[in-house]
Amino acid sequence: MEKTYLMIKPDGVQRNVIGEIVSRFEKKGFQLVGAKLMQVTKETAELHYAEHKERPFFGELVDFITSGPVFAMVWQGEGVIATARQMMGKTNPKEAAPGTVRGDFGVTVGKNIIHGSDSAESAEREIAIFFKEEELVSYTKLM
Ligand code: CMP
Repeated sequence: MEKTYLMIKPDGVQRNVIGEIVSRFEKKGFQLVGAKLMQVTKETAELHYAEHKERPFFGELVDFITSGPVFAMVWQGEGVIATARQMMGKTNPKEAAPGTVRGDFGVTVGKNIIHGSDSAESAEREIAIFFKEEELVSYTKLM
């Protein structure tokens, strides 16, 4: 079953929208297979965002994601990687459509509420960064 890594960033956690966001993905029909509230270390942040290392905002990105607790999640379902990105909306909340997570809850590109894997390769890599195999559950009764 396809899996993706989603992470509610420190702004989403502090705005108390964890439940609302989780609810959207549950109602859509995806299954939560792993979740934890955690503090991201600088090392983990740099690993997770390695592809952005040369960008001018890299330092800001690492500082922000390590600034407070995040809610790390693994979701599974048919086409979950692409559909979750549609449900999150464009990276810049100013351009994200109403009805999407970023369109409804975010204002600035740096504080855009949620991160989601952009491909199967990224999903595999990011899930392995944040979760151990034994932290993921499997369901006997599938959708
Ligand atoms: P995310 O999906 O977590 O992946 C990389 C992040 O970089 C992105 O969401 C944005 O939050 C952030 N980002 C992208 N562009 C900028 C920018 N110009 N300034 C600050 N942060 C940015």
